[in-house]
Amino acid sequence: MRDFDENNITAAVIDRYKNTPDPRLKKIMTSLVQHLHDFVRDVELTETEWAQAIEFLTRTGQLCTDKRQEFILLSDTLGVSMLVDAINHRFAKGTTETTVKGPFYVENPPEAAFGAAIHGEAKGEPLYIDGSILSEDGKPVANAVVDVWHSDAEGFYDVQLPELQEPTLRARFHSDGQGRFRFWTILPRYYPIPYDGTVGDMLKATERHPYRPAHVHFMIIADGHETLVTHLFVDGDQYLDSDAVFAVKNSLIRDFTRQASGVAPDGKKIDTPWRKLHNDFVLAKTAAKKNAPAA
Ligand code: BEZ
Ligand code: FE
Repeated sequence: MRDFDENNITAAVIDRYKNTPDPRLKKIMTSLVQHLHDFVRDVELTETEWAQAIEFLTRTGQLCTDKRQEFILLSDTLGVSMLVDAINHRFAKGTTETTVKGPFYVENPPEAAFGAAIHGEAKGEPLYIDGSILSEDGKPVANAVVDVWHSDAEGFYDVQLPELQEPTLRARFHSDGQGRFRFWTILPRYYPIPYDGTVGDMLKATERHPYRPAHVHFMIIADGHETLVTHLFVDGDQYLDSDAVFAVKNSLIRDFTRQASGVAPDGKKIDTPWRKLHNDFVLAKTAAKKNAPAA
């Protein structure tokens, strides 16, 4: 076939995929071409805009290194990451909801003992966090891997502070025989996602702010359960309703309660005001995944 025009080119391109052996790939390519062409027709893309888009995507790729993933950030800020997360985590009611992992997780974080402090030299309001890892049937999960990471009191992650010699405000705990974990840290602050690249250009051009509300990240891995990637958000944060990456869920907002100086639940004496957070995480059993996307 020849003489393609704006009315017949979509069907012709889709037809080229008719022999794709993998049915899932065929479905994805067909839908991609359909939606992409519909988008181009809908906005009547100009040649200048097409060239700008190519240049934007090229720069986005060029910004990617083993330390920076601008495409994931783009996906995050377009709400695609949370959409994929939602579609893929339709677990049983009562299990802890999920959110994006974000770019600041570091593989194999330092192991820390039950009750340890993870803030090193970082200054801030002391924060005591404890809770349990539970299975969806309410039973405690012993020896679960509990990875934790968060920003400092100024909104920076350790990986953004080259002067830091060692990992700070991140650690790997293991739940004890009764599924419990606990640790000390400092209260995190809201912060901007990296906005010195193409994603930042997009946010600026569209008058969107780059901020995420204050939160603590958790990734919990346990045998027989879906890995849980989530955050707990600090109630009252000014950015809860406008998170740059659309990751806030009501069920994950917590009162990090203010405490007067005194004795903490682990018996530690503390002579300044501090914050306390108790949270139980409920994991979905691997087999309990409901309504997974069709193959
Ligand atoms: C984060 O919470 O660390 C994060 C998530 C998505 C994009 C940027 C940062
Ligand atoms: Fe974060």
